[in-house]
Amino acid sequence: MARSAHTPGLRPFLPADAATLAALFRESVDELAVDDYDEAQREAWASKADDEEAFGALLAGELTIVALVDGEIAGFASLKDNADFHMIYVRPELARRGVGSALADAIEKIAAGRGTKTLTVDVSDAARDFFAARGYVAKTRNTIEIGGQWLGNTTMTKELAPAGRAH
Ligand SMILES: CC(C)(COP(=O)(O)OP(=O)(O)OC[C@H]1O[C@@H](n2cnc3c(N)ncnc32)[C@H](O)[C@@H]1OP(=O)(O)O)[C@@H](O)C(=O)NCCC(=O)NCCS
Repeated sequence: MARSAHTPGLRPFLPADAATLAALFRESVDELAVDDYDEAQREAWASKADDEEAFGALLAGELTIVALVDGEIAGFASLKDNADFHMIYVRPELARRGVGSALADAIEKIAAGRGTKTLTVDVSDAARDFFAARGYVAKTRNTIEIGGQWLGNTTMTKELAPAGRAH
């Protein structure tokens, strides 16, 4: 099966990953969000990674993990303040092969291990089905402004099983 062939390895973010993750972020937004946001909206969203140094500092300031497939970076995810699932982005050519699931499993385990009971995420319309499939529940609909563009997203939450009781 394709999924097992691509089961990713995981490791912590390293400062040297910043440029690769910035490029991955831009590609992921541009290609995987194409059905949900127009070109100007995607460009505004993707521009968050234009300053690679600042983007790297943002990732370093959160708990960021990187997924590897065949030794290459395939995606990343970040946890902010132990309870805010801030980012998750997968390389477009590796979408729907379990990379996002492996990253989200790890973020949820880490958050639970730190005593977090409720994990919150502001979910893009492109990722809503992914989070819903993982048991996240929609709470509020938001409209955020990025670079003069207005983008809709949804705040979703998931109640985490206490660490050690997941099985
Ligand atoms: C959301 C995202 C991280 C998912 O990563 P992924 O590696 O493709 O996810 P997985 O392969 O682990 O998917 C697991 C399940 O989620 C659901 N799912 C994932 N993507 C989906 C989609 N586009 N449409 C419907 N369901 C989807 C499916 O149930 C899927 O299981 P299946 O493939 O067996 O049907 C990825 O699509 C992405 O990077 N999107 C663009 C950036 C983005 O919006 N990030 C979130 C910001 S909040």
